Amino acid sequence: MNSMHSSNGRVRILVPFEIRSRFREDVATGLSRPQKSIAPKYFYDHAGSLLFEQICQLPEYYLTRTETTILTEHAADIIEAVGECTIVELGSGSSVKTRLLLTECQRSGYQLRYVPIDISESMLRETAANLVADYPLLQIEALATDYENGLAALPPAQRRLVLFLGSNLGNFTASEQDQLFSSLAASLQPGDYFLLGLDLRKSATILEPAYNDAAGVTAAFNRNLLQRINRELGADFDLAAFAHLAFYNQKLGQIEMHLQSTGTQEVAIADLDLRVPFQVGETIHTEISRKFDAAETRAHLQPYGFQHRARWTDAHGWFLVSLFQFIGVTNGQA
Ligand code: TRP
Repeated sequence: MNSMHSSNGRVRILVPFEIRSRFREDVATGLSRPQKSIAPKYFYDHAGSLLFEQICQLPEYYLTRTETTILTEHAADIIEAVGECTIVELGSGSSVKTRLLLTECQRSGYQLRYVPIDISESMLRETAANLVADYPLLQIEALATDYENGLAALPPAQRRLVLFLGSNLGNFTASEQDQLFSSLAASLQPGDYFLLGLDLRKSATILEPAYNDAAGVTAAFNRNLLQRINRELGADFDLAAFAHLAFYNQKLGQIEMHLQSTGTQEVAIADLDLRVPFQVGETIHTEISRKFDAAETRAHLQPYGFQHRARWTDAHGWFLVSLFQFIGVTNGQA
């Protein structure tokens, strides 16, 4: 279902895909598997998006802070390398880090065009309204959908800079990552740029607290998924009967996150006409957050037509921001 909303002359919000009906199907199939699972994109309803903004400010969650430092130091280098461009962003959220780049474009006297893609329509509206208030020349064409559908609906542009920050790539499995790179390649034109922010592999003593904060915000974020199912699909999940579980799988180089049933129970999901049994200790797998090796990721992107142009890191070498240019695919591999 396509719908168009226009808040004012400088903001257009396009809702190119009805996520809600897909949520029903995905919850039904995900909770019927032997290892129950729900895709991480469903964390981000309005409440979830706000909780995630809180996660980004936690002392244990070094990712946002570190990436912001890198972008603050190098926004000028990035915009100098790319030149005048339309900024596209996958999973834009509050667009706080994006402001660093928009400010730099403004300083350079460039046209300001921004295409945020985010699954939370309410978050997009709020963020877009704040941005146009602060950047008088900014034009926003927002896409309220998931990455795949957003990329398929990209408006035409002279030159794009696609942002994929916050190590959001880590929330994809290796095969989903390949699918995403191929969709990205299919929607870009040669000459477009891709800026990728990745959390690098490091000790579990640093990684694990980032997903198990002392204040319990990450636990609340994880459990909000159950609350969302209660709210939107008429389920009766008892939030207190599910524990937040997050640990680093050293061998696979990824954080794995679950909601673990503290007892034997059965949950009814009225709108799906479904009863879901849980054994004590059984989990719903809600997320992975892969941690990266820089050279490996460059090698993965190359066959899709992305050439590495520059990279920036922080003093600890914890996080990496890499700039690629899409040169097109010449050998048909993607
Ligand atoms: N892209 C973020 C990450 O992998 C997403 C994230 C951070 C997250 N903390 C979370 C997702 C907690 C779910 C729960 O770090």
